[in-house]
Amino acid sequence: MRCLVARVNYKTLIVICVVFTLITVLLWNKCAKDLTYPTPHRAQLAPTQEVEENGQPPEAAPMAREVVYEEIDCLINEDMTIKGRREGAEVFLPFSWVEKYFEVYGRLAQYEGLERFEFSHSYSKVYAQREPYHPSGVFMSFEGYNVEVRDRVKCISGMEGVPISTQWGPQGYFYPIQIAQYGLSHYSKNLTERTPGIEGYDKAEDREGNHSPWTVPKGCSIAAVMDQAHSTVTRQFSTADHSDGISLPLGNSKDFVLSFDIKFMSNGSVSVVIETTEKGPPFVIHYVTTNMLISLKDREVTYGIGPRTSWSTVTRDLLTDLRKGVGLSNTKVVKATKVMPRCIVQLVLQGSGFIDNITISSTAHRAAFFSASDWLLRNQDERGGWPIKVTRKLGEGFRSLESGWYSAMAQGQAMSTLVRAYLLTHNTSYLNAALRATAPFKQTSEQHGVKAVFMNKYDWYEEYPTTPSSFVLNGFIYSLIGLYDVAETAGDKLGQEAGVLFSRGVESLKAMLPLFDTGSGTVYDLRHFILGTVPNIARWDYHTTHINQLQLLASIDSAPIFKEYLKRWKTYLKGGRAKHN
Ligand SMILES: *[C@@H]1O[C@H](CO)[C@@H](O)[C@H](O)[C@H]1NC(C)=O
Ligand SMILES: *[C@@H]1O[C@H](CO)[C@@H](O)[C@H](O)[C@H]1NC(C)=O
Ligand SMILES: *[C@@H]1O[C@H](CO)[C@@H](O)[C@H](O)[C@H]1NC(C)=O
Ligand SMILES: *[C@@H]1O[C@H](CO)[C@@H](O)[C@H](O)[C@H]1NC(C)=O
Repeated sequence: MRCLVARVNYKTLIVICVVFTLITVLLWNKCAKDLTYPTPHRAQLAPTQEVEENGQPPEAAPMAREVVYEEIDCLINEDMTIKGRREGAEVFLPFSWVEKYFEVYGRLAQYEGLERFEFSHSYSKVYAQREPYHPSGVFMSFEGYNVEVRDRVKCISGMEGVPISTQWGPQGYFYPIQIAQYGLSHYSKNLTERTPGIEGYDKAEDREGNHSPWTVPKGCSIAAVMDQAHSTVTRQFSTADHSDGISLPLGNSKDFVLSFDIKFMSNGSVSVVIETTEKGPPFVIHYVTTNMLISLKDREVTYGIGPRTSWSTVTRDLLTDLRKGVGLSNTKVVKATKVMPRCIVQLVLQGSGFIDNITISSTAHRAAFFSASDWLLRNQDERGGWPIKVTRKLGEGFRSLESGWYSAMAQGQAMSTLVRAYLLTHNTSYLNAALRATAPFKQTSEQHGVKAVFMNKYDWYEEYPTTPSSFVLNGFIYSLIGLYDVAETAGDKLGQEAGVLFSRGVESLKAMLPLFDTGSGTVYDLRHFILGTVPNIARWDYHTTHINQLQLLASIDSAPIFKEYLKRWKTYLKGGRAKHN
């Protein structure tokens, strides 16, 4: 899995380090050979120290002591020489060099009005777990995830309501892991964020008095009608060809999540006019009854939402839709854009059909969660899997995974999503799908499953079922969490198989965890053992994921190994190292 938050921090840090380096270089250049700096800190500190020592204020503030730095050549590993600074017996190496050499992080920062330098050994933070893990609770640290803003998410599909990934190809495809993560993050945000503000427009009760806020051009019509199936009053609309459409003023400059119930009787569209931070005319986002994904022309973004000839709810985050539209590109990455919505001006209908329940809210996490859950339900295949339809090469020495492979991580995260949908709705379709998802765990990678066996002994569930096996740690643990969710939720009888797979997996994990510990960090997989290549050291964000996962496991399994490793792996984030002999 990817961790964007940490990546952004990392980049920010690099920028700050560069700025810091520049400042340092400028200062040094200015002060030439012998450098003399007054040290105001010491001058200010001295009086207080004296008061403490003899109870008497000093007669006069001492002169600022002057520290003399000399430039000194520093020979590095007998390979190269860099310029350092010497103050008496102390030698200072430039941080720009230290930073690269040790892969550490630092920046100048303001603290209580003063400048100070802040150093850190790593760049990502361990998640503060709120409570012991349970299948209906927050999913690990996912309330902090924002899947849709990732630049490898092309857009949120108007047809399916789930993200389209460009991670491994610019054409865009549905990536089950990303979709499950989208669902789990919105589920977790729903549990942890404040209740959203919701504003209703053209409300059913307002229609009784025949009041209509709509602007209706000649030849068009809109009227309140009783919908028998919903025993509610809805709006029936019809527009003339080539008219400007029927419009409803919204005037919302606070929130940007639009939702409405719609049933089209012809082809048509719902468009939203948006004032943005960009100068010039407003942007328009069209939601049209076609199957196209997304397009951009001047200031008009279009999403296909399918025919919608029976009632359904459309919920769109206009901020995401606008920014993905403006950033649309033919590459793997959505272009960065500064544009932000400022005011949702109005909604415009074209074609004929019915509309109801038009609202704008600050968030709609439940809707996003169910879009993901329902996508998983619709797209599970007859073998219980969610095939991944891109070729994937994990690295030199591993055979490519051909389009259609299953991932234990996708299976696991889909299970965690579906179990939560079941617990919210008690609709057994979700639980049954989660139960079926165990099937690929019983078959080996060669049999198109996800199971690998380590040293002929330990069952492992592969995020990437490669040949030879790769034993990716984080994907394996996500798969265990999914199995746990199913076993806990389905009960002893229905959940037995998931329970057995879970126990076996946990047993392997307990035996194999030591193999991932480098003494100063962790490895992402076991390629150094399997292929005999250089160890694949986990980036700090993956190391932190390992820690967050152990934290979760430690809250459901009291085995000492989880607590011990959790503690030790946390120390690595601050430079802790195993003792040498
Ligand atoms: C979570 O979902 C429930 C049910 O839809 C809703 O009432 C609540 O306001 C939501 N809260 C948040 C923060 O999304
Ligand atoms: C509009 O919302 C109300 C209240 O949630 C619901 O009863 C009604 O069925 C909705 N209308 C449609 C057409 O779905
Ligand atoms: C919308 O247009 C398509 C293609 O022109 C057509 O096949 C379809 O029947 C139309 N849908 C409706 C509801 O009129
Ligand atoms: C359960 O969910 C499925 C899929 O969304 C739906 O087709 C079915 O009608 C639901 N069943 C009940 C009893 O609500």
